[in-house]
Amino acid sequence: MIEKLIKNRRSIRKYQDKKIPSDILDQLIESARLAPTASNQQDLKLLVVDEPEKVQALANSADTQAFVQTAGAIIGIACHNDRPMKCGISKGIVDASIAMSFMVLQAEELGIGSCWLGSFDADAVSKYFELPDDHTVVCITAFGYADEAPNAKPRKSTEELLIKK
Ligand SMILES: Cc1cc2nc3c(=O)[nH]c(=O)nc-3n(C[C@H](O)[C@H](O)[C@H](O)COP(=O)(O)O)c2cc1C
Repeated sequence: MIEKLIKNRRSIRKYQDKKIPSDILDQLIESARLAPTASNQQDLKLLVVDEPEKVQALANSADTQAFVQTAGAIIGIACHNDRPMKCGISKGIVDASIAMSFMVLQAEELGIGSCWLGSFDADAVSKYFELPDDHTVVCITAFGYADEAPNAKPRKSTEELLIKK
C-alpha cells in the first residue's frame, strides 16, 4: 500500500554487499518510464550503473559521499534543457524529480533502500554518461539492500506547512 511505503521509507546510507537483480532494476526503470511528464514530452534520460567497479568509478568521479561507493546501483536522471513552463519552472527538473520519486517508492516496495543525492558534481556525471551539452543531470540516487534501519527523521507539523484559504 502506498501509504505504508511512504511512511516506512528512509534514506539508507549503508548497503549490504548484494547485487540488485536485473529484473528489479528493470522494475525501477519502468516506474520512471511510466511517470507523468509535462505535455507528456518524456524528455528525460535515465542513467544507470550497477556493476561495482562502475558504481565506484561514478561515485568517485562525481565526488559523492563515501557510502555511495557501496551502493548496488546508482541511477541518475537528466533532462533536456527546454524552455520553462508557463509557471516559470523548468519542466525537466519537475519531470525528473517525479520520475526519481516513483523509483524511490518502487524500490521501497521491492525491499531496496535508497538515498537521493544532491551532493554530487553534475558535470562529472554528465561527462561519465557522455550526455550532450543540452542536457542537465537533475538528480542521482544510490540504491541497494539496506544494512541499517534508521529511525524516522522529524517532520514539520501540518500546521507549519499548510496555507489553506
Ligand atoms: C533533493 C535531496 C537531496 C539530498 N541530498 C543528499 C545527499 O547529498 N546526501 C545524503 O546523505 N542525503 C541526501 N538527501 C537525503 C535527505 O537528507 C533525507 O531525505 C532527509 O534527511 C530526510 O530523511 P529520510 O529520507 O530518511 O526521511 C537528499 C534528499 C533530497 C530529497
